Amino acid sequence: MPAQTLAAQPGRWLWTCREGFESHLFEELLWADANPRLLGPALLESERRPDVPPAFGRAAEKVIATWAPAGGAQVPVEDILDALSGLPTHVPWVLRAFTPDSERGNTQAGRAEALEAAVRAAIPPHRLLEEDHRARDAGALLVGLCVAPDGVLVAGAVSAREALSLAPGGRRRMKRAGESPSRAAMKLEEALDGLAHEPGRGDVCVDLGAAPGGWTQRLVARGARVVAVDPARLMPELTKNPKVQHVQQSAFAYAPEEPADWLFCDMAWRPQEVAQLLAKWGRRRWARNLVANIKLPMKDKNPLLLRVKQILVDDGGWEGLTVRQLYHDRDEVTVTAHRMR
Ligand SMILES: C[S@@+](CC[C@H](N)C(=O)[O-])C[C@H]1O[C@@H](n2cnc3c(N)ncnc32)[C@H](O)[C@@H]1O
Repeated sequence: MPAQTLAAQPGRWLWTCREGFESHLFEELLWADANPRLLGPALLESERRPDVPPAFGRAAEKVIATWAPAGGAQVPVEDILDALSGLPTHVPWVLRAFTPDSERGNTQAGRAEALEAAVRAAIPPHRLLEEDHRARDAGALLVGLCVAPDGVLVAGAVSAREALSLAPGGRRRMKRAGESPSRAAMKLEEALDGLAHEPGRGDVCVDLGAAPGGWTQRLVARGARVVAVDPARLMPELTKNPKVQHVQQSAFAYAPEEPADWLFCDMAWRPQEVAQLLAKWGRRRWARNLVANIKLPMKDKNPLLLRVKQILVDDGGWEGLTVRQLYHDRDEVTVTAHRMR
């Protein structure tokens, strides 16, 4: 890790990741011939953006300008506006200031907030979009200001349609619902937030590794019917819910009575074996949509992740695969895919 945050170079891509996962993102970028460089905790840059988004990258933007004034002095807002003046103005902008998600990075949160307010105040309001969900449809430009430790400031941009995330620095914080039984529920909410469509009323969902029931609860709240497969107990309110069928056995021994619309999986089990199980579901066309959380507690994560992807696509026939470490994921990644009938 560099002793001081390094300044990203204009024309390269700036990446954020979860702190502690820099080496995994570095490796992915290296394997993609993107010539990465570690800038500091939770922050990297690369020469280009790989065609397949790296699993451990939370957000990426093309660097427009970098400042690293001596002694960490404030960069005048006029200088930032000047740097942004070359960006297209015929499309709306989504403006986001963020800090690297690291212990030191997070100490800059106040600076980031103040900087975003100052830049925002200098841009006519009609040119800025607030709601993320409109940004992609509107062909907006995501303009990011990365406020890093050691006085480093990086301005960058990426088309909202191509952005990995529209949340500041890729931190899509889901709200913790009062009655939610587990942190797991937020992982599911974040995964669903990134999809073009969600499970809804009348859909049949199978939830492998469902206990204690955070995911199942979120799915029934959307009106779906859920088969919750887990040898462990579900929370009592779910066992009484007529929309929930608890199959108290191993997911490896379970076969559905009817094809499901959605297959969910958050099983705490070995990734390769989970991938083989999900591939079986794909091959047998037991489900059309897949959302799975794959646990990666091992040190060497990327070779295993490659194998998991290969099993899902080659053996399972799953299509449109995305593999991402979401904000609420810890030592794990979230996979989404679908299967044409
Ligand atoms: C992280 S927890 C799931 C949390 C759940 N998604 C929620 O929202 O409450 C992992 C679960 O995987 C289950 N599990 C482990 N091996 C399993 C297997 N072979 N079949 C089904 N469930 C399994 C465990 O019993 C445990 O409840």
